[in-house]
Amino acid sequence: MQTFRACRVHATGGAVTARLEQLVLDDLAAGEVVIEAHYSSVNYKDALAATGKGRIMRRFPLVGGVDVAGVVTQSLDPRFRAGDAVLVTGCGLGESHDGGFSEVVRVPSDWVVPLPAGLTLFDAMALGTAGFTAALAVDRLEQNGQKPELGPVVVTGATGGVGSIGIDLLSGRGYDVVALTGKPAAGDYLQGLGAGRVLDRQALGPARGLLESARWGGAVDNVGGDVLSWLLRTTRPWGSIASIGMAGGVELHASVMPFILRGVSVLGITSANCPMPRRLKIWQRLVTDLRPTRLDATVAGIVGLDELPDVFERLLGGQHRGRFVVTMGRD
Ligand SMILES: NC(=O)c1ccc[n+]([C@@H]2O[C@H](COP(=O)([O-])OP(=O)(O)OC[C@H]3O[C@@H](n4cnc5c(N)ncnc54)[C@H](OP(=O)(O)O)[C@@H]3O)[C@@H](O)[C@H]2O)c1
Repeated sequence: MQTFRACRVHATGGAVTARLEQLVLDDLAAGEVVIEAHYSSVNYKDALAATGKGRIMRRFPLVGGVDVAGVVTQSLDPRFRAGDAVLVTGCGLGESHDGGFSEVVRVPSDWVVPLPAGLTLFDAMALGTAGFTAALAVDRLEQNGQKPELGPVVVTGATGGVGSIGIDLLSGRGYDVVALTGKPAAGDYLQGLGAGRVLDRQALGPARGLLESARWGGAVDNVGGDVLSWLLRTTRPWGSIASIGMAGGVELHASVMPFILRGVSVLGITSANCPMPRRLKIWQRLVTDLRPTRLDATVAGIVGLDELPDVFERLLGGQHRGRFVVTMGRD
């Protein structure tokens, strides 16, 4: 049986480590579709999973990576045929099922998304879970009535993957985007993506009451914790906050005042288990009315499987800008 390379995560004696290994197809979790992977990408969740800093993986050893894009080589499901270009994000990939950091990936056919016309395999992974999630957030915000006239939309964790692509998508939809970042030196990068203003996260003061001066029409929040509390206190009447991430903390200290006096909404965003009809709709929007215009600028680097452990540390250190695409060296 042919061997291929994969970055597999082991838990031994309480220590979680990722290493490059040679595997065969029988080593991978079962599924109807086998994909020759061309690209994957690195998300914050991948870094948490592969280092054991977050309890993401449900079993060990497990190939990491929540994203993959490639070409079908075998399918037991007539919906897919050898040669089809496809992508998979979330659905348990890299969590409970062997993931995308592998030259060969095998998945249940219900997880597979045909590559949308007009998108390359590379761009599918430049977007990956981060881009899909940013688009899901914009979609939910607008379904809940968000529009540019409500006022500026804050994007937090702005230099990260979801933040960077979120700025691009929102500015393309005509929003006045305010980037909140812990890296004020990244101002040029953020303005290049479409942010009109850049705020320094360190400059946020302590809470001055249950409500504060209402400044924002809405928000895309990748940070959680105190930042989400601040957004709740400062969002204008009828604005919505898409709650995506927890890079700054999982707890939320808030009052009901923003809800009952200002009609502010918090919209939960969960990309991994997004139902397929909505998943297909979001990918279609990403090649039409929500198409990013500055995706190249959000690619922090293109790395091989052997470079992943370094990238995990950089992500957890929060010092990067944008996203890393993983190449399997096929192009
Ligand atoms: N709900 C979902 O379905 C979903 C999907 C994808 C991602 N996520 C979550 O969304 C968040 C962002 O994901 P990502 O892939 O964009 O991650 P990322 O590329 O690592 O970006 C996270 C950003 O958050 C900021 N940050 C880092 N550490 C922080 C801290 N201690 N306090 C406050 N801010 C901090 C940094 O931006 P600045 O320096 O610019 O502030 C960093 O670049 C993560 O929590 C991730 O788990 C959720």
